[in-house]
Amino acid sequence: MSTRTHKITLIAGDGIGPEVSAATVSILEAAGKQTGCTFDWHRYDAGADAFAKTGEYIPKALYNSIEDTRVALKGPVTTPIGGGFSSINVTLRKKFDLYSNFRPVKSLPGLKTKFPDIDMVIFRENTEDLYSGVEVMINPDLAQSFKIITTKGSTRIAQSAFDYAKKHNRKKVHAIHKANIMKLSDGLFLRCCKFVADKFPEITYAEHIVDNTCMQLVMNPWQYDIILTENLYGDILSDLCSGLIGGLGLVPGANLGTECAIFEAVHGSAPDIAGQDKANPTALLQSAVLMLHHIDETDTADNVQTALEKVYAEGKTLTRDVGGQSGTKAFAEAVIAAL
Ligand code: NAI
Repeated sequence: MSTRTHKITLIAGDGIGPEVSAATVSILEAAGKQTGCTFDWHRYDAGADAFAKTGEYIPKALYNSIEDTRVALKGPVTTPIGGGFSSINVTLRKKFDLYSNFRPVKSLPGLKTKFPDIDMVIFRENTEDLYSGVEVMINPDLAQSFKIITTKGSTRIAQSAFDYAKKHNRKKVHAIHKANIMKLSDGLFLRCCKFVADKFPEITYAEHIVDNTCMQLVMNPWQYDIILTENLYGDILSDLCSGLIGGLGLVPGANLGTECAIFEAVHGSAPDIAGQDKANPTALLQSAVLMLHHIDETDTADNVQTALEKVYAEGKTLTRDVGGQSGTKAFAEAVIAAL
């Protein structure tokens, strides 16, 4: 068996990040041993931890590493609320122009939820909208945030969603918006989606207003196949959709650009359960499966996913967030045993 080595930038993150990252790395290394693939991890801190050690929230060496490896696996990083440094996540996405946030939301076998058999994908524009970070205090009682929507940003995320739909035989794309109120910005987003949709007559295209979408998702989520949306709506809908299949511990994500990619879960640093061996590493592990596909380690990816699903189907070694009694480490060991 030939051995393949992959250089990957690893940002363990903070809060539950180090726990879910360690679990994911141990599973990937065990799976790699069976298929002849090894990982050369380039480990970096980001956020407050990095600042304490290097005086930089995102060390230059981390930027250089991602430029070199072009692939990163990232745990969550805490962002201070209402002040402090800018989000590390948003900064990295913008710096590397990772315009497509791809988040598959799929039910896991054996998990009893109110909404069985969910299988949808969210394409969230990842670099614009209210996340442009342009805010000003006009005066002490008046704050202003700028919502940036461009033809370029909207068209390329729509193109990603439709290309994916075509390649993976998906039938429907819903563009989610609030163009009844934000007529210019969301109006432009919708025009770009429609422009791309017209090139794919075999795929059904529909438009839903975001507030109605929230209601539709909890009444009849099965009507959605691909959700195509802007940055803020995509962020909120991702958490809502995570809840449909059993919580934030499950849903993976990929931040994709033309030059590089960063794979990370939808969830944040979960300070309420950090350091207690309670975190569910499934979301980061499934993000790592997306990464394995991205680096053409298809067999390793399939083996990890199959082992993960076996553990869920058996239901004996699950974490507490999905109704089990096990800790992060025991769960990881069960997945390794199932490989
Ligand atoms: P959160 O996603 O960290 O947690 C929300 C709830 O879900 C909590 O009850 C938490 O215990 C639970 N949860 C999340 N992940 C879990 C897991 N893997 N296993 C079991 N339970 C899990 O959201 P929150 O509390 O709003 O944010 C905390 C921090 O994370 C903030 O500083 C926020 O800015 C940051 N954040 C970072 C992200 C990233 O690095 N990509 C994404 C989202 C938030």
